[in-house]
Amino acid sequence: MTSRKRYFDSVALDYSKRSRGLLWKHVRESESAVMMGMLEGHPLGDVLELGCGSGYYSKLLYERKCSRLVCVDLSLKMLENLDIPGCEKIEADIQYFQSESRFDTIVCAGVLEFLQKPENIFYNVASMLNPQGLFVILIPLESLAGKMYRLFHRTHGIHLTLFNLDEIEKWANVAGLEITGHQRVSMFSLVVGFRLKRERVK
Ligand SMILES: C[S@@+](CC[C@H](N)C(=O)[O-])C[C@H]1O[C@@H](n2cnc3c(N)ncnc32)[C@H](O)[C@@H]1O
Repeated sequence: MTSRKRYFDSVALDYSKRSRGLLWKHVRESESAVMMGMLEGHPLGDVLELGCGSGYYSKLLYERKCSRLVCVDLSLKMLENLDIPGCEKIEADIQYFQSESRFDTIVCAGVLEFLQKPENIFYNVASMLNPQGLFVILIPLESLAGKMYRLFHRTHGIHLTLFNLDEIEKWANVAGLEITGHQRVSMFSLVVGFRLKRERVK
């Protein structure tokens, strides 16, 4: 078992409760407002959430009405704490996750930083996104607050990657995705939206 899986299994039970704690509630609410704002006016349709945890964003997506909700996470304990009617839960490593289904909306919030190969996600998403689909991510930036977040995770043996928009755009571009919008949010995060490059859609 990897240190990441061990860590997320160990915090799974309290994970949703933590999001309601004073400090995190504020951070969570400002981040989710921007995340969901990126999807404003977009019919959610069939939704895939990569690294869903105990379902903070899955619940928001479910409440916004989607036709299908598929939630993937490495931690079975996180998935056990996710309780949404009709939600399809899959225990898998999203770096290698592929599905025969295509999705109208793919969301990945607060997960890329834990991956050894975050660039893989863009290829996987490009192969699973419908022509008019949207992909939205939440990532920590190379900033002072981002470095403090990285230090926090180092205390339980987890290496975390911080990002900048240029490298994200490069990975997305190579995989066949283009940026539809981006917005800085909270102390250290960035929300970025993508769609398939127009030449891939024709
Ligand atoms: C910081 S939590 C965020 C969870 C959720 N997206 C949220 O915003 O509440 C990161 C989640 O990513 C999952 N995760 C980390 N690495 C993963 C991987 N390689 N494949 C799938 N899930 C992973 C963890 O198990 C954890 O549930």
